[in-house]
Amino acid sequence: MKEEKKLAGPDLSKGVPLDDLPSEGMLTGHVDNEEVLLVQSRGEVFAISPHCTHYNGPLAEGLLVGDTVCCPWHHACFDLRTGEAVRAPALSPVTCWEVLRSGGLIKVGPKRKRSQPRTRIEPTAKPERIVIVGGGAAGFAAAEMARRVGYQNSIAMLSSDTALPYDRPNLSKDYLAGTIPFDYVPLRDKGFYEENGIEIQLGKNVVALDVRTREVRLSDGKSVAYDRLLLATGAEPVRLTIPGAEQPQVHTLRSLADSNAIIEASKTSKRVVVVGASFIGLEVAASLRARKLEVHVVAPDKRPMEHILGPEMGDFIRTLHEEHGVIFHLETKPKAIDKAVHLESGEAIDADLVVAGIGVRPRLGLAENAELKIDRGVAVDQYLETSTPNIFAAGDIARWPDSHSGENIRVEHWVVAERQGQAAAMNILGARERFTQVPFFWSQHYDAPINYVGHAETWDKIEIEGDVMSKDCLVRFKRNGRVAAVASIFRDLQSLQAEVEMEHV
Ligand SMILES: Cc1cc2nc3c(=O)[nH]c(=O)nc-3n(C[C@H](O)[C@H](O)[C@H](O)COP(=O)(O)OP(=O)(O)OC[C@H]3O[C@@H](n4cnc5c(N)ncnc54)[C@H](O)[C@@H]3O)c2cc1C
Ligand code: FES
Repeated sequence: MKEEKKLAGPDLSKGVPLDDLPSEGMLTGHVDNEEVLLVQSRGEVFAISPHCTHYNGPLAEGLLVGDTVCCPWHHACFDLRTGEAVRAPALSPVTCWEVLRSGGLIKVGPKRKRSQPRTRIEPTAKPERIVIVGGGAAGFAAAEMARRVGYQNSIAMLSSDTALPYDRPNLSKDYLAGTIPFDYVPLRDKGFYEENGIEIQLGKNVVALDVRTREVRLSDGKSVAYDRLLLATGAEPVRLTIPGAEQPQVHTLRSLADSNAIIEASKTSKRVVVVGASFIGLEVAASLRARKLEVHVVAPDKRPMEHILGPEMGDFIRTLHEEHGVIFHLETKPKAIDKAVHLESGEAIDADLVVAGIGVRPRLGLAENAELKIDRGVAVDQYLETSTPNIFAAGDIARWPDSHSGENIRVEHWVVAERQGQAAAMNILGARERFTQVPFFWSQHYDAPINYVGHAETWDKIEIEGDVMSKDCLVRFKRNGRVAAVASIFRDLQSLQAEVEMEHV
Protein backbone atom coordinates (compact mmCIF):
# COMPACT_ATOMS: atom_id res chain seq x y z
CA MET A 1 0.00 0.00 0.00
CA LYS A 2 1.31 3.47 -0.93
CA GLU A 3 2.26 5.36 2.20
CA GLU A 4 0.55 8.76 2.58
CA LYS A 5 3.06 11.55 3.18
CA LYS A 6 2.46 13.54 6.37
CA LEU A 7 1.84 17.00 5.03
CA ALA A 8 1.82 20.33 6.83
CA GLY A 9 -1.09 22.76 6.96
CA PRO A 10 -4.55 22.71 5.40
CA ASP A 11 -5.72 20.99 2.23
CA LEU A 12 -5.57 23.97 -0.09
CA SER A 13 -7.72 22.32 -2.77
CA LYS A 14 -10.61 22.67 -0.32
CA GLY A 15 -9.75 26.32 0.27
CA VAL A 16 -8.72 28.50 3.17
CA PRO A 17 -10.24 31.82 4.28
CA LEU A 18 -8.26 34.72 2.85
CA ASP A 19 -8.03 36.08 6.40
CA ASP A 20 -5.92 33.03 7.38
CA LEU A 21 -3.24 34.18 4.98
CA PRO A 22 -1.10 36.97 6.38
CA SER A 23 -0.93 40.01 4.13
CA GLU A 24 2.68 40.10 2.84
CA GLY A 25 3.07 36.61 4.24
CA MET A 26 3.01 32.89 3.55
CA LEU A 27 1.08 29.78 4.54
CA THR A 28 2.14 26.20 3.91
CA GLY A 29 -0.53 23.68 2.98
CA HIS A 30 -0.92 20.83 0.53
CA VAL A 31 -2.70 19.69 -2.60
CA ASP A 32 -2.82 16.12 -3.96
CA ASN A 33 -0.18 14.88 -1.53
CA GLU A 34 2.25 17.70 -2.45
CA GLU A 35 3.26 20.63 -0.31
CA VAL A 36 2.23 24.03 -1.62
CA LEU A 37 3.15 27.50 -0.37
CA LEU A 38 0.47 30.17 -0.57
CA VAL A 39 1.97 33.61 -0.75
CA GLN A 40 0.19 36.92 -0.46
CA SER A 41 2.11 39.87 -1.80
CA ARG A 42 0.78 43.32 -2.66
CA GLY A 43 -2.82 42.07 -2.60
CA GLU A 44 -2.17 39.16 -4.99
CA VAL A 45 -2.08 35.50 -3.99
CA PHE A 46 0.31 32.96 -5.53
CA ALA A 47 0.81 29.23 -5.03
CA ILE A 48 4.28 27.75 -5.50
CA SER A 49 6.35 24.83 -4.33
CA PRO A 50 7.84 25.57 -0.89
CA HIS A 51 11.14 23.81 -1.71
CA CYS A 52 14.04 25.77 -3.16
CA THR A 53 15.45 24.08 -6.25
CA HIS A 54 19.02 24.69 -5.09
CA TYR A 55 19.37 22.47 -2.00
CA ASN A 56 15.73 22.23 -0.97
CA GLY A 57 15.76 25.22 1.41
CA PRO A 58 12.40 26.12 3.07
CA LEU A 59 11.00 29.07 1.13
CA ALA A 60 8.33 29.55 3.80
CA GLU A 61 11.14 30.83 6.06
CA GLY A 62 12.44 33.17 3.39
CA LEU A 63 11.78 36.79 2.52
CA LEU A 64 9.25 38.33 0.16
CA VAL A 65 10.92 40.96 -1.99
CA GLY A 66 8.53 42.57 -4.46
CA ASP A 67 7.08 39.77 -6.56
CA THR A 68 9.78 37.30 -5.58
CA VAL A 69 10.44 35.00 -2.64
CA CYS A 70 14.05 34.53 -1.55
CA CYS A 71 15.43 31.38 0.01
CA PRO A 72 16.79 31.70 3.55
CA TRP A 73 19.73 29.39 3.01
CA HIS A 74 21.76 30.79 0.08
CA HIS A 75 19.60 33.69 -1.13
CA ALA A 76 18.21 32.30 -4.41
CA CYS A 77 15.02 34.15 -5.43
CA PHE A 78 11.99 32.90 -7.36
CA ASP A 79 9.45 34.88 -9.34
CA LEU A 80 6.02 34.33 -7.74
CA ARG A 81 4.21 34.59 -11.10
CA THR A 82 6.34 32.23 -13.17
CA GLY A 83 8.36 30.25 -10.62
CA GLU A 84 11.52 31.27 -12.47
CA ALA A 85 14.77 31.23 -10.47
CA VAL A 86 15.59 34.89 -10.98
CA ARG A 87 18.63 34.92 -8.68
CA ALA A 88 21.25 32.20 -8.40
CA PRO A 89 22.28 29.84 -6.86
CA ALA A 90 19.00 28.17 -7.85
CA LEU A 91 18.81 27.74 -11.61
CA SER A 92 15.62 25.70 -12.04
CA PRO A 93 12.11 27.14 -11.53
CA VAL A 94 9.75 26.08 -8.76
CA THR A 95 6.34 24.62 -9.66
CA CYS A 96 3.38 27.05 -9.70
CA TRP A 97 -0.33 26.27 -9.18
CA GLU A 98 -3.46 28.12 -10.25
CA VAL A 99 -5.07 30.16 -7.48
CA LEU A 100 -8.86 30.43 -7.45
CA ARG A 101 -10.93 32.81 -5.32
CA SER A 102 -14.50 32.01 -4.37
CA GLY A 103 -16.23 34.16 -1.81
CA GLY A 104 -13.76 34.77 0.96
CA LEU A 105 -11.94 31.51 0.19
CA ILE A 106 -8.64 30.95 -1.59
CA LYS A 107 -8.38 27.58 -3.34
CA VAL A 108 -5.42 26.04 -5.11
CA GLY A 109 -6.28 24.56 -8.48
CA PRO A 110 -4.23 22.52 -10.95
CA LYS A 111 -0.50 22.93 -11.61
CA ARG A 112 0.28 25.64 -14.10
CA LYS A 113 2.11 24.97 -17.33
CA ARG A 114 5.65 26.28 -17.18
CA SER A 115 5.52 29.89 -18.32
CA GLN A 116 8.12 31.83 -20.22
CA PRO A 117 10.78 33.51 -18.09
CA ARG A 118 10.04 37.14 -17.45
CA THR A 119 13.02 38.34 -19.43
CA ARG A 120 13.11 37.51 -23.13
CA ILE A 121 15.67 39.00 -25.45
CA GLU A 122 14.80 41.06 -28.48
CA PRO A 123 15.21 38.98 -31.60
CA THR A 124 17.47 41.74 -32.97
CA ALA A 125 20.12 41.10 -30.32
CA LYS A 126 21.74 38.19 -32.00
CA PRO A 127 25.44 37.53 -32.05
CA GLU A 128 26.08 34.58 -34.36
CA ARG A 129 28.41 32.78 -32.03
CA ILE A 130 29.01 33.09 -28.30
CA VAL A 131 32.13 31.38 -27.00
CA ILE A 132 32.54 30.79 -23.28
CA VAL A 133 35.97 29.91 -21.93
CA GLY A 134 35.41 27.99 -18.70
CA GLY A 135 32.90 25.38 -17.60
CA GLY A 136 32.49 26.47 -13.99
CA ALA A 137 29.94 28.57 -12.11
CA ALA A 138 30.05 31.66 -14.32
CA GLY A 139 30.43 29.84 -17.63
CA PHE A 140 27.59 27.42 -16.98
CA ALA A 141 25.22 30.09 -15.64
CA ALA A 142 25.91 32.25 -18.70
CA ALA A 143 25.11 29.46 -21.16
CA GLU A 144 21.97 28.47 -19.26
CA MET A 145 20.73 32.07 -19.09
CA ALA A 146 21.37 32.74 -22.78
CA ARG A 147 19.18 29.77 -23.68
CA ARG A 148 16.60 30.57 -20.99
CA VAL A 149 15.95 34.01 -22.46
CA GLY A 150 15.58 32.67 -25.96
CA TYR A 151 18.96 33.05 -27.66
CA GLN A 152 19.01 30.53 -30.50
CA ASN A 153 22.36 30.89 -32.24
CA SER A 154 25.54 29.05 -31.43
CA ILE A 155 26.99 28.68 -27.93
CA ALA A 156 30.32 26.91 -27.50
CA MET A 157 31.66 26.25 -24.02
CA LEU A 158 35.33 25.29 -23.79
CA SER A 159 36.49 23.83 -20.53
CA SER A 160 39.88 22.49 -19.50
CA ASP A 161 38.06 20.29 -16.98
CA THR A 162 37.16 16.82 -18.20
CA ALA A 163 33.92 16.74 -16.19
CA LEU A 164 30.64 18.44 -17.08
CA PRO A 165 30.05 21.62 -15.02
CA TYR A 166 29.50 20.73 -11.37
CA ASP A 167 28.61 22.11 -7.98
CA ARG A 168 32.08 23.12 -6.82
CA PRO A 169 31.10 24.13 -3.24
CA ASN A 170 30.04 20.56 -2.58
CA LEU A 171 33.56 19.29 -3.27
CA SER A 172 34.76 20.35 0.18
CA LYS A 173 31.46 19.72 1.97
CA ASP A 174 28.94 16.87 1.65
CA TYR A 175 30.57 15.19 -1.35
CA LEU A 176 33.97 15.10 0.38
CA ALA A 177 32.34 14.00 3.64
CA GLY A 178 30.64 11.14 1.77
CA THR A 179 27.13 12.19 2.79
CA ILE A 180 25.76 12.76 -0.73
CA PRO A 181 26.13 10.59 -3.81
CA PHE A 182 27.93 11.70 -6.96
CA ASP A 183 24.57 12.33 -8.72
CA TYR A 184 24.16 15.52 -6.70
CA VAL A 185 27.37 17.02 -8.02
CA PRO A 186 26.86 17.76 -11.77
CA LEU A 187 24.84 20.93 -12.37
CA ARG A 188 23.09 19.24 -15.30
CA ASP A 189 23.40 15.90 -17.08
CA LYS A 190 24.71 15.42 -20.62
CA GLY A 191 21.22 15.56 -22.09
CA PHE A 192 20.79 19.19 -21.01
CA TYR A 193 23.62 20.36 -23.27
CA GLU A 194 22.32 18.30 -26.19
CA GLU A 195 18.72 19.47 -25.77
CA ASN A 196 19.78 23.09 -25.43
CA GLY A 197 22.30 23.07 -28.24
CA ILE A 198 25.21 24.02 -26.02
CA GLU A 199 28.30 22.71 -27.70
CA ILE A 200 30.37 21.76 -24.69
CA GLN A 201 33.96 20.75 -25.32
CA LEU A 202 35.60 19.20 -22.28
CA GLY A 203 39.32 18.73 -21.68
CA LYS A 204 40.04 21.69 -23.99
CA ASN A 205 42.62 24.14 -22.78
CA VAL A 206 42.44 27.58 -24.36
CA VAL A 207 45.99 28.84 -24.66
CA ALA A 208 45.61 32.14 -26.54
CA LEU A 209 43.11 34.81 -27.41
CA ASP A 210 43.45 36.82 -30.63
CA VAL A 211 41.30 39.92 -30.30
CA ARG A 212 42.11 41.06 -33.85
CA THR A 213 40.86 37.93 -35.64
CA ARG A 214 38.29 37.22 -32.87
CA GLU A 215 39.30 33.68 -32.14
CA VAL A 216 40.65 31.61 -29.30
CA ARG A 217 43.34 28.98 -29.80
CA LEU A 218 43.33 25.60 -28.10
CA SER A 219 46.33 23.60 -26.93
CA ASP A 220 45.63 21.05 -29.70
CA GLY A 221 46.31 23.80 -32.29
CA LYS A 222 42.66 24.30 -33.30
CA SER A 223 41.00 27.72 -33.27
CA VAL A 224 37.45 28.67 -32.37
CA ALA A 225 35.94 31.92 -33.73
CA TYR A 226 33.61 34.12 -31.69
CA ASP A 227 31.37 37.17 -32.07
CA ARG A 228 31.10 37.61 -28.32
CA LEU A 229 33.45 36.02 -25.83
CA LEU A 230 33.01 35.34 -22.12
CA LEU A 231 36.14 34.67 -20.11
CA ALA A 232 35.27 32.65 -17.00
CA THR A 233 38.48 30.80 -16.23
CA GLY A 234 38.14 30.96 -12.44
CA ALA A 235 41.08 30.53 -10.13
CA GLU A 236 43.70 27.95 -9.34
CA PRO A 237 44.96 26.90 -5.94
CA VAL A 238 48.21 28.28 -4.64
CA ARG A 239 50.59 25.38 -4.07
CA LEU A 240 53.07 24.87 -1.28
CA THR A 241 56.66 25.41 -2.40
CA ILE A 242 58.44 23.93 0.63
CA PRO A 243 60.68 20.85 0.31
CA GLY A 244 58.57 17.69 -0.11
CA ALA A 245 55.49 19.56 -1.37
CA GLU A 246 55.59 17.76 -4.70
CA GLN A 247 55.01 14.31 -3.11
CA PRO A 248 51.84 12.43 -4.09
CA GLN A 249 50.25 12.60 -0.63
CA VAL A 250 50.16 16.43 -0.86
CA HIS A 251 46.90 17.67 -2.42
CA THR A 252 45.10 20.88 -3.28
CA LEU A 253 41.34 21.14 -3.88
CA ARG A 254 39.73 22.92 -6.79
CA SER A 255 38.31 20.35 -9.17
CA LEU A 256 36.15 17.25 -8.96
CA ALA A 257 39.26 15.20 -9.77
CA ASP A 258 41.03 16.82 -6.79
CA SER A 259 38.11 15.98 -4.49
CA ASN A 260 38.02 12.39 -5.77
CA ALA A 261 41.77 12.07 -5.22
CA ILE A 262 41.42 13.24 -1.59
CA ILE A 263 38.51 10.83 -1.05
CA GLU A 264 40.59 7.94 -2.41
CA ALA A 265 43.60 8.89 -0.29
CA SER A 266 41.42 9.31 2.81
CA LYS A 267 40.36 5.64 2.55
CA THR A 268 43.86 4.48 3.45
CA SER A 269 44.91 7.39 5.65
CA LYS A 270 44.70 7.78 9.39
CA ARG A 271 45.96 11.30 9.90
CA VAL A 272 45.69 14.37 7.69
CA VAL A 273 47.39 17.72 7.99
CA VAL A 274 45.36 20.54 6.49
CA VAL A 275 47.52 23.56 5.75
CA GLY A 276 45.49 26.77 5.94
CA ALA A 277 42.63 27.71 8.27
CA SER A 278 40.39 29.50 5.81
CA PHE A 279 37.11 28.34 4.26
CA ILE A 280 38.34 25.51 2.08
CA GLY A 281 40.88 24.23 4.60
CA LEU A 282 38.35 24.13 7.41
CA GLU A 283 35.58 22.62 5.30
CA VAL A 284 38.06 19.90 4.31
CA ALA A 285 38.89 19.44 8.00
CA ALA A 286 35.20 19.00 8.87
CA SER A 287 34.58 16.59 5.99
CA LEU A 288 37.59 14.45 6.82
CA ARG A 289 36.51 14.31 10.45
CA ALA A 290 33.23 12.89 9.12
CA ARG A 291 35.41 10.24 7.45
CA LYS A 292 36.96 9.55 10.88
CA LEU A 293 40.47 10.78 10.09
CA GLU A 294 42.56 12.47 12.75
CA VAL A 295 42.73 16.06 11.51
CA HIS A 296 45.42 18.64 12.25
CA VAL A 297 45.14 22.19 10.93
CA VAL A 298 48.30 24.26 10.54
CA ALA A 299 48.08 27.99 9.84
CA PRO A 300 50.02 31.20 10.52
CA ASP A 301 46.92 33.02 11.80
CA LYS A 302 46.22 33.72 15.46
CA ARG A 303 42.61 32.65 14.91
CA PRO A 304 40.98 30.88 11.97
CA MET A 305 39.38 33.29 9.50
CA GLU A 306 39.94 36.31 11.73
CA HIS A 307 40.96 38.51 8.78
CA ILE A 308 37.59 37.85 7.09
CA LEU A 309 35.18 37.38 10.00
CA GLY A 310 36.82 39.09 12.97
CA PRO A 311 38.08 37.70 16.31
CA GLU A 312 34.73 36.60 17.82
CA MET A 313 33.77 34.49 14.81
CA GLY A 314 37.37 33.26 14.62
CA ASP A 315 37.22 32.00 18.20
CA PHE A 316 33.83 30.41 17.56
CA ILE A 317 35.09 28.58 14.47
CA ARG A 318 38.12 27.30 16.35
CA THR A 319 35.99 26.07 19.27
CA LEU A 320 33.47 24.45 16.93
CA HIS A 321 36.18 22.51 15.10
CA GLU A 322 37.90 21.55 18.36
CA GLU A 323 34.61 20.21 19.68
CA HIS A 324 34.64 17.93 16.63
CA GLY A 325 38.16 16.76 17.35
CA VAL A 326 40.24 18.99 15.05
CA ILE A 327 43.69 19.82 16.46
CA PHE A 328 44.98 23.30 15.63
CA HIS A 329 48.62 24.37 15.27
CA LEU A 330 48.30 28.13 14.85
CA GLU A 331 50.86 30.93 14.45
CA THR A 332 53.20 28.60 12.62
CA LYS A 333 53.79 27.31 9.10
CA PRO A 334 55.01 24.06 7.58
CA LYS A 335 58.63 24.19 6.45
CA ALA A 336 59.13 20.71 4.97
CA ILE A 337 57.20 17.52 4.31
CA ASP A 338 58.45 13.94 4.36
CA LYS A 339 56.52 11.26 6.23
CA ALA A 340 55.73 14.06 8.64
CA VAL A 341 54.87 17.72 8.23
CA HIS A 342 57.63 19.73 9.91
CA LEU A 343 56.54 23.06 11.31
CA GLU A 344 58.53 26.24 11.86
CA SER A 345 57.57 25.93 15.53
CA GLY A 346 59.72 22.79 15.74
CA GLU A 347 56.80 20.36 15.89
CA ALA A 348 56.54 17.43 13.45
CA ILE A 349 53.17 15.82 12.70
CA ASP A 350 53.22 12.36 11.09
CA ALA A 351 50.73 12.46 8.24
CA ASP A 352 49.75 10.14 5.43
CA LEU A 353 47.68 12.87 3.74
CA VAL A 354 48.28 16.62 3.40
CA VAL A 355 45.76 19.06 1.93
CA ALA A 356 46.89 22.62 1.26
CA GLY A 357 44.14 25.23 1.32
CA ILE A 358 46.30 28.33 1.23
CA GLY A 359 44.36 30.46 -1.23
CA VAL A 360 43.83 30.76 -4.96
CA ARG A 361 45.09 32.91 -7.83
CA PRO A 362 42.75 34.06 -10.58
CA ARG A 363 43.62 32.55 -13.96
CA LEU A 364 44.50 35.72 -15.85
CA GLY A 365 46.99 34.43 -18.43
CA LEU A 366 44.67 34.62 -21.46
CA ALA A 367 43.52 38.16 -20.67
CA GLU A 368 47.03 39.36 -19.84
CA ASN A 369 48.54 38.02 -23.02
CA ALA A 370 45.74 39.53 -25.11
CA GLU A 371 46.47 42.88 -23.38
CA LEU A 372 43.06 43.29 -21.83
CA LYS A 373 43.11 45.76 -18.96
CA ILE A 374 44.22 44.00 -15.77
CA ASP A 375 43.75 45.32 -12.25
CA ARG A 376 44.53 42.42 -9.87
CA GLY A 377 41.93 40.60 -11.96
CA VAL A 378 40.38 41.23 -15.35
CA ALA A 379 39.00 44.78 -15.16
CA VAL A 380 35.37 44.95 -16.27
CA ASP A 381 32.81 47.74 -16.28
CA GLN A 382 29.37 47.59 -14.64
CA TYR A 383 28.12 45.57 -17.63
CA LEU A 384 30.96 43.07 -17.06
CA GLU A 385 32.57 44.00 -20.37
CA THR A 386 36.37 44.11 -20.45
CA SER A 387 38.47 46.90 -21.93
CA THR A 388 38.09 45.15 -25.33
CA PRO A 389 34.56 45.46 -26.76
CA ASN A 390 32.62 42.20 -27.12
CA ILE A 391 34.80 40.40 -24.58
CA PHE A 392 33.19 39.95 -21.17
CA ALA A 393 34.56 38.43 -17.96
CA ALA A 394 32.78 36.99 -14.94
CA GLY A 395 33.45 35.06 -11.75
CA ASP A 396 36.68 34.71 -9.82
CA ILE A 397 38.75 36.51 -12.47
CA ALA A 398 36.61 39.67 -12.74
CA ARG A 399 37.18 42.92 -10.86
CA TRP A 400 34.07 45.03 -11.18
CA PRO A 401 32.78 48.36 -9.86
CA ASP A 402 30.75 47.28 -6.83
CA SER A 403 27.86 49.69 -6.39
CA HIS A 404 27.51 49.21 -2.63
CA SER A 405 31.11 49.85 -1.57
CA GLY A 406 31.90 52.16 -4.48
CA GLU A 407 35.14 50.20 -4.95
CA ASN A 408 36.42 47.93 -7.68
CA ILE A 409 36.35 44.50 -6.12
CA ARG A 410 37.09 40.89 -7.03
CA VAL A 411 35.70 38.04 -4.93
CA GLU A 412 35.80 34.27 -5.01
CA HIS A 413 32.16 33.34 -4.31
CA TRP A 414 29.99 30.77 -6.07
CA VAL A 415 26.80 32.85 -6.11
CA VAL A 416 28.59 35.94 -7.41
CA ALA A 417 30.18 33.92 -10.20
CA GLU A 418 26.80 32.52 -11.23
CA ARG A 419 25.02 35.87 -11.05
CA GLN A 420 27.81 37.53 -13.01
CA GLY A 421 27.70 34.78 -15.63
CA GLN A 422 23.97 35.41 -16.00
CA ALA A 423 24.38 39.19 -16.17
CA ALA A 424 27.22 38.87 -18.69
CA ALA A 425 25.01 36.64 -20.87
CA MET A 426 22.24 39.24 -20.81
CA ASN A 427 24.67 41.98 -21.78
CA ILE A 428 26.24 39.86 -24.49
CA LEU A 429 22.71 39.71 -25.88
CA GLY A 430 22.37 43.48 -25.74
CA ALA A 431 20.41 43.96 -22.48
CA ARG A 432 22.75 46.64 -21.01
CA GLU A 433 21.97 45.56 -17.43
CA ARG A 434 24.24 46.91 -14.72
CA PHE A 435 25.60 44.30 -12.33
CA THR A 436 24.53 45.78 -8.99
CA GLN A 437 24.07 42.69 -6.83
CA VAL A 438 25.83 42.70 -3.49
CA PRO A 439 28.30 39.82 -2.96
CA PHE A 440 27.03 36.83 -0.99
CA PHE A 441 28.74 33.66 0.14
CA TRP A 442 28.11 30.85 2.53
CA SER A 443 30.30 28.30 4.24
CA GLN A 444 29.23 25.22 6.17
CA HIS A 445 31.02 23.83 9.23
CA TYR A 446 29.30 20.76 10.72
CA ASP A 447 25.80 21.99 11.63
CA ALA A 448 26.76 25.68 11.51
CA PRO A 449 26.14 27.59 8.29
CA ILE A 450 27.88 30.96 7.99
CA ASN A 451 26.25 33.43 5.60
CA TYR A 452 28.01 36.60 4.53
CA VAL A 453 26.62 39.54 2.60
CA GLY A 454 28.62 42.50 1.33
CA HIS A 455 32.36 43.01 1.17
CA ALA A 456 34.66 44.22 3.93
CA GLU A 457 38.38 43.70 3.47
CA THR A 458 38.85 46.05 6.43
CA TRP A 459 36.55 47.56 9.02
CA ASP A 460 36.78 50.01 11.90
CA LYS A 461 34.02 48.50 14.05
CA ILE A 462 32.30 45.16 14.58
CA GLU A 463 28.79 45.10 16.07
CA ILE A 464 27.43 41.77 17.29
CA GLU A 465 23.74 41.08 17.76
CA GLY A 466 22.93 37.81 19.54
CA ASP A 467 25.59 35.37 20.69
CA VAL A 468 28.28 33.99 18.40
CA MET A 469 29.15 31.00 20.61
CA SER A 470 25.48 29.94 20.78
CA LYS A 471 25.32 29.93 16.95
CA ASP A 472 22.73 32.69 16.87
CA CYS A 473 24.21 35.94 15.71
CA LEU A 474 24.39 38.74 13.23
CA VAL A 475 27.78 40.40 12.95
CA ARG A 476 27.97 43.81 11.25
CA PHE A 477 31.31 44.99 9.86
CA LYS A 478 31.24 48.78 9.73
CA ARG A 479 33.49 51.20 7.92
CA ASN A 480 33.10 54.98 8.24
CA GLY A 481 29.81 54.47 10.07
CA ARG A 482 28.34 52.36 7.26
CA VAL A 483 27.62 48.63 7.21
CA ALA A 484 30.09 47.14 4.72
CA ALA A 485 29.23 43.48 5.35
CA VAL A 486 27.10 41.25 7.54
CA ALA A 487 27.98 37.72 8.67
CA SER A 488 25.38 35.57 10.37
CA ILE A 489 24.69 32.17 11.87
CA PHE A 490 21.06 31.00 11.94
CA ARG A 491 19.79 34.56 11.35
CA ASP A 492 18.75 33.85 7.78
CA LEU A 493 15.95 36.34 7.49
CA GLN A 494 18.14 39.15 8.76
CA SER A 495 20.86 38.13 6.35
CA LEU A 496 18.37 38.36 3.47
CA GLN A 497 17.14 41.72 4.76
CA ALA A 498 20.74 42.98 4.92
CA GLU A 499 21.23 42.00 1.27
CA VAL A 500 18.10 43.87 0.23
CA GLU A 501 19.08 46.94 2.27
CA MET A 502 22.60 47.04 0.84
CA GLU A 503 21.29 46.80 -2.71
CA HIS A 504 18.87 49.64 -2.16
CA VAL A 505 21.08 52.11 -0.31
C1 LIG B 1 36.21 23.19 -2.85
C2 LIG B 1 35.59 24.53 -3.03
C3 LIG B 1 34.51 24.90 -2.23
C4 LIG B 1 33.92 26.14 -2.37
N1 LIG B 1 32.87 26.48 -1.58
C5 LIG B 1 32.27 27.67 -1.73
C6 LIG B 1 31.16 28.05 -0.93
O1 LIG B 1 30.73 27.31 -0.06
N2 LIG B 1 30.59 29.24 -1.12
C7 LIG B 1 31.06 30.11 -2.05
O2 LIG B 1 30.51 31.19 -2.20
N3 LIG B 1 32.12 29.78 -2.85
C8 LIG B 1 32.73 28.60 -2.70
N4 LIG B 1 33.80 28.27 -3.48
C9 LIG B 1 34.28 29.23 -4.49
C10 LIG B 1 33.50 29.05 -5.79
O3 LIG B 1 33.47 27.71 -6.16
C11 LIG B 1 34.14 29.89 -6.89
O4 LIG B 1 34.07 31.25 -6.50
C12 LIG B 1 33.44 29.69 -8.22
O5 LIG B 1 33.54 28.37 -8.65
C13 LIG B 1 34.03 30.62 -9.27
O6 LIG B 1 33.40 30.38 -10.48
P1 LIG B 1 34.17 30.65 -11.87
O7 LIG B 1 33.20 30.30 -12.93
O8 LIG B 1 34.77 31.99 -11.83
O9 LIG B 1 35.36 29.62 -11.84
P2 LIG B 1 35.36 28.05 -11.76
O10 LIG B 1 34.10 27.55 -11.18
O11 LIG B 1 36.65 27.66 -11.12
O12 LIG B 1 35.40 27.60 -13.27
C14 LIG B 1 36.49 27.89 -14.08
C15 LIG B 1 36.43 27.00 -15.29
O13 LIG B 1 37.35 27.44 -16.27
C16 LIG B 1 38.07 26.32 -16.78
N5 LIG B 1 39.33 26.86 -17.32
C17 LIG B 1 40.29 27.54 -16.66
N6 LIG B 1 41.27 27.93 -17.53
C18 LIG B 1 40.89 27.49 -18.74
C19 LIG B 1 41.47 27.57 -20.04
N7 LIG B 1 42.62 28.21 -20.26
N8 LIG B 1 40.83 26.97 -21.07
C20 LIG B 1 39.64 26.33 -20.89
N9 LIG B 1 39.05 26.24 -19.68
C21 LIG B 1 39.66 26.81 -18.62
C22 LIG B 1 38.18 25.40 -15.58
O14 LIG B 1 38.45 24.09 -15.96
C23 LIG B 1 36.78 25.55 -15.00
O15 LIG B 1 35.88 24.74 -15.71
C24 LIG B 1 34.43 27.04 -3.34
C25 LIG B 1 35.53 26.67 -4.15
C26 LIG B 1 36.10 25.43 -3.99
C27 LIG B 1 37.27 25.04 -4.85
S1 FES C 1 18.80 25.95 -0.70
FE1 FES C 1 17.87 27.72 -1.46
S2 FES C 1 19.48 28.91 -2.15
FE2 FES C 1 20.42 27.12 -1.47
